[in-house]
Amino acid sequence: MAQGVSSTEVQHPLAALTAAEIAAAVALVKSHPTFTEATRFAYIGLAEPSKAQVRAWSPGQSLSRRVRLMLVAGPEADVVEVVASLATGELSITPVLGVRPGLLFEESFAAIVAVQENAQWQEAMRKRGIEDLETVQIDPWPAGSFGVSHEEGRRICRCLFYVRHTPEDNGYAHPIEGVVAFVDMARGEVLEIVDTGVVPIPTECGNYYPESVSLRDDLKPVEITQPEGPSFSVEGNLVHWQKWSLRVSMDSVEGLILHDVGYEDQGRVRPILFRAAVTEMVVPYGDPGPMHGWKNAFDAGEWGLGRMANSLALGCDCLGVIHYFDAVFSSERGHPYVVQNAICMHEEDYGILWKHNDPRSERNEVRRSRRLVVSSIATVGNYDYGFFWYFYLDGTIQFEVKLTGILSTMAVAPGEQPEFASMVAPQLAAPFHQHLFNVRLDADVDGPSNSVHEVDTHPVPPGPDNPWSNAFAPVTTLLETETAARRVINPATSRYWKIVNPRSENRLGIPVAYKLVPGSTPTLLANPDSSVAQRAGFATRNLWVTPYAPDERRAAGDYPNQHAGGDGLPRWTAADRSIVERDIVLWYTFGVTHVPRPEDWPVMPVEYAGFMLVPHGFFDRNPALDVPPPPGATCHTE
Ligand code: NI
Repeated sequence: MAQGVSSTEVQHPLAALTAAEIAAAVALVKSHPTFTEATRFAYIGLAEPSKAQVRAWSPGQSLSRRVRLMLVAGPEADVVEVVASLATGELSITPVLGVRPGLLFEESFAAIVAVQENAQWQEAMRKRGIEDLETVQIDPWPAGSFGVSHEEGRRICRCLFYVRHTPEDNGYAHPIEGVVAFVDMARGEVLEIVDTGVVPIPTECGNYYPESVSLRDDLKPVEITQPEGPSFSVEGNLVHWQKWSLRVSMDSVEGLILHDVGYEDQGRVRPILFRAAVTEMVVPYGDPGPMHGWKNAFDAGEWGLGRMANSLALGCDCLGVIHYFDAVFSSERGHPYVVQNAICMHEEDYGILWKHNDPRSERNEVRRSRRLVVSSIATVGNYDYGFFWYFYLDGTIQFEVKLTGILSTMAVAPGEQPEFASMVAPQLAAPFHQHLFNVRLDADVDGPSNSVHEVDTHPVPPGPDNPWSNAFAPVTTLLETETAARRVINPATSRYWKIVNPRSENRLGIPVAYKLVPGSTPTLLANPDSSVAQRAGFATRNLWVTPYAPDERRAAGDYPNQHAGGDGLPRWTAADRSIVERDIVLWYTFGVTHVPRPEDWPVMPVEYAGFMLVPHGFFDRNPALDVPPPPGATCHTE
């Protein structure tokens, strides 16, 4: 029985959830009379302790681990939230009506089978010359929320179709335009087959396997060797690298999570971030047609960035000495399973850290930059997203998303030019779209009491104090409340945001800070009255700041699937709470607007999006002065 689970594996409040803990929580639920054989486990994750609880805990003390579960009892659009206390065996049970979990795998499969057996769909395929229906790839898509009657009270998906001439064929080269299926995925029932007319299926092969292309033969090997091993150490999910310390875990929805990130300075670990993770992302499409206008995938809340994580045991994407972390998730029937090698960690040389060549003394000092890389990769349908956190020797943190994989495609009739899509191959186009990610940063800069300042650098008007009209200076604005902190980037003023601890000063008497340095990023382009703008309100601004609240977890709310909108950041921040000298959370939206190129076909070279967190008076001076010079003869000329 589940009571008194105190697995010796678990030695810290922020340790990753174990298979034994998942099994214990599931056993508690299954023994409760509310639940039946039909109950499915849509989500199981750690109910994470608060900052105060973590800080109050010390090694040797008991752990009161709690598990969050989201259950579906039947085919209705309702869920049951459960928090299971493993130490006491108590369950807190809260039904939530009219919301859906992310799309379940079992139901996605049921939707595919229902379509395959549907006579009207079979007829639509034959009308397009497809005789062998086994060659049709069926992709269930989140249906969105458009006031369609099929949506009401149901968990539905819309299915799109592609031809695979062989099992390994790239189906996105052969989209079947004009057919969409609405399916009640919870009941395995086709609701409607929409057929807007036949468009010839593009025929050109889009395969990218080595056997499908002629490979260049003049690349010489690059070998990374670390003869003395890596410079990091790992204990459970705790990582030490150089002066950094952090914990890593995986959540089935959010994917890779960092906890309790700190940097050792003058003998003590100074906290910077309590928690960091992508809590939501959206891929809105810009083509208004019936096949593509409804496509707005929320790849975290509707599919799950952890659930879709690659096992890097299949082949590694990193070079060097690597440490892997496994991820433990639960199946929809409550069975724990392990994704081996879900997180990859390694070190990378990163060019020059700092350098000066003094011509007078003829001393040339240079230091090599190195970074610790913690990454995972999620494949969500056609797309692949790499999530990469980098830690540098000088206290900088970087987050980078690597966008790759295969475009979502459409067939175009011969001779036609699409207005809202790029041609990428003969009769094959890819609609314009965006990828907008929101990363939640639970700030902890030298402690929990932080404020956010916006800094814009402006020219100073000419005048007696500015006789050469050259003056410019940063203008700092304290963001006092939530509505004042709904912000967008401004490259023209080099805008950044400082996370300041007003109660901790550096040796110059200035409050310590980390600055959030945005990259080049859009916000949502869909009109404010669109369905996606309502549902992905988080994407209408780059920055949001909230006071920490334990139930404010995901940028679009806990239930974005088929949600009518308004939840998450727009709703919470409407309260306009104070964010000055508080335990605050920054929510940063960034991404790319993707006007596809022919070069993105048939598989996309990586596109990058991200941001930096850079110490800004957090240290008293360059914290990487103590990095030793590289050993001699590291350069080699043939
Ligand atoms: Ni894209």
